[in-house]
Amino acid sequence: MEVYAGLAGIPVVKSSISYIDGEKGVLEYRGIPIEELAKNSNFLETSYLLVFGKLPSKEEYEKFVSDVKDNLFLDRSIIQFLKDIPPETHPMKVLQSIIPVLSAFDENKEVLDEKHHYSALVNLLGKVPTILATWKRIKEGKEIVMPDPSLDYGENFLYMISGRKPDKLEGRIFDRCLILHAEHTINASTFTAIVVVSTLADFYSAVSSAVGSLSGRLHGGANERVYYMLNELKHINDIEGYVDQKLSRKERIMGFGHRVYKTYDPRAKIIKEMLDQILSLKGNNELVRIATELEKIVLDRLKGKKIYPNIDFYSGILYSLLGIPVEFYTPVFAMARISGWIAHCKEYIRENKLFRPTQIYDGGHNIRYLPLEKR
Ligand code: CMC
Repeated sequence: MEVYAGLAGIPVVKSSISYIDGEKGVLEYRGIPIEELAKNSNFLETSYLLVFGKLPSKEEYEKFVSDVKDNLFLDRSIIQFLKDIPPETHPMKVLQSIIPVLSAFDENKEVLDEKHHYSALVNLLGKVPTILATWKRIKEGKEIVMPDPSLDYGENFLYMISGRKPDKLEGRIFDRCLILHAEHTINASTFTAIVVVSTLADFYSAVSSAVGSLSGRLHGGANERVYYMLNELKHINDIEGYVDQKLSRKERIMGFGHRVYKTYDPRAKIIKEMLDQILSLKGNNELVRIATELEKIVLDRLKGKKIYPNIDFYSGILYSLLGIPVEFYTPVFAMARISGWIAHCKEYIRENKLFRPTQIYDGGHNIRYLPLEKR
């Protein structure tokens, strides 16, 4: 028997939700290329596609959007809960702790059937952005901004964090970022989610556990670190020395390389295009200049290793231009990934098999118990 460390390369499910060809730089949701969706769809429609396996009809779409919007508002008890959390708590921890409590407001929580899958989906899609925005406002000692159901999904989040109605282009760009983050085959957090539902725990427990998994630096946290790195590089002339020093110490440059993509991450390409769009609205930006130069130098140094920018390289800069504070970058990723996690939970539970891997025991046997005073 052999141990498969990190289950690397071991398929754990058959899935029709998303597909990646890392050599060609292809990502598809339910067979539709990510470029098509980012151009033509919106986050809620894409969520429907991921979870239900097809694009919704007009009626299905309108009902779905209306069900999500009916769930935007937080109960007074949840707001009080948020007010009682120490303000220094990272928003990923806040999210992870509060999601299971939302099950209290789910009328289908008792039976884990299709009704539960649906109500958990619309409840979480509705409330998670409001929780994050409310937490941000509470933390900053500012007045809470109530959701505005007349706004689009992405616009409403930007509005709730800032109190300012965003420009249409900003709202659309943010919504497209959510599409890009919504799903990415089986990875650590999605695997976490299906392990949890395999025990027949509810979808709230699965999503909360997935948030915990996503919070780690090796998974969801890279975009925060790219942002810090770019801020450290105060001047364009510092970049070459920084890159060469990092590489000579065999250290990683954040936002580059990917376990699956051995070419340009297709999501990074789209984010870069959107960055250009937002710059046309906001004017030039020093971080973008530094990032562009850094990309050139890293591509030159690492071209033999098939290392290219990944989604996290430009997403942080884009978020900062949209007024999202750095510690909310990973939570925004989580907010988008809810639909991917739920799609996988729903798919997995259909032919559920409890996850129960095994181990190779590597310890002693028959060891005598030693009383405390003799140790
Ligand atoms: N900077 C410098 N060198 C790198 C980098 C990098 N970012 N990434 C890989 N390499 C080098 C690595 O040192 C190794 O060189 P050598 O063969 O000389 O030892 C070679 O490339 C292959 O590395 P690897 O560790 O086998 O590659 P991997 O596929 O296991 O690593 C990765 C993937 C994402 C962990 C890695 O590229 C990395 O640490 N990147 C920086 C962190 C980052 O940006 N993470 C976000 C990933 S995208 C998130 C998402 O899809 O959701």
